[in-house]
Amino acid sequence: MRKTVIAGNWKMNMTPAKTAEFIKALAPIVAGKDKCDIVLCVPAIDIPAAVEAAKGTNIKIGAENVHFKASGAYTGEISAEMLTEAGVEYVVIGHSERRQYFGETDKTVNLRTLAALNAGLKAIVCVGETLEERELGYTETLLKYQTKMALTNVTAEQMKNVIVAYEPVWAIGTGVTATAEQADEGNGYVRAAIAEAFGADVAEATTVQYGGSMNDKNAAELLAKTNVDGGLIGGASLKTDAFTAIVDAANA
Ligand code: PGA
Repeated sequence: MRKTVIAGNWKMNMTPAKTAEFIKALAPIVAGKDKCDIVLCVPAIDIPAAVEAAKGTNIKIGAENVHFKASGAYTGEISAEMLTEAGVEYVVIGHSERRQYFGETDKTVNLRTLAALNAGLKAIVCVGETLEERELGYTETLLKYQTKMALTNVTAEQMKNVIVAYEPVWAIGTGVTATAEQADEGNGYVRAAIAEAFGADVAEATTVQYGGSMNDKNAAELLAKTNVDGGLIGGASLKTDAFTAIVDAANA
């Protein structure tokens, strides 16, 4: 059975001090809620505070990006080794905001994914269509293409450390959630692409999250869908109550 993973993506929010405060408040509330893995992906500067605060809890810490080179003249970037040494276990790769604002391409998403996996990190690889692409009828084609491109040269063995997050761009931070049916369908396209690339067994075992305005109100309905194995949560992961409610929905 594949694992349900509830992951927060804090984006550019929270200072180190607020990070420690948030995790210390969250930890006792989510303790023992182990039907899902609980991950918080935080800004790089918050990682030491997050790792320290999460010690001895069931909260795992992730980063929001990783560079594909091991080291060198890449001002402002962070390597996989830096992340693992700091105690990071997960990393978000190819988020639509990185693709939209920071020139991320399918190629760099693939390179970053390989670098993360080769360093032993778990990769949360994001794919998703824009509203225009959906309206043109390209959702399935695009999701399969992005998924296969991101996972090029990944081995079947490494797929154990891959989570794919289907995040329709039109649903991110907009308050517009995909319907549970749309989420299930999009996640199904991702799983079909994994099956085409790695076979049915790997596809069945891979966690595919939904992301895009998931919150305390809609999480239960989304998570009830066969193909939705968790969530990548932006806005609602910044509020203890809302995030806890999503964890509860995954534990029901
Ligand atoms: P949102 O963000 O939950 O605020 O829509 C999701 C994401 O970007 O991962």
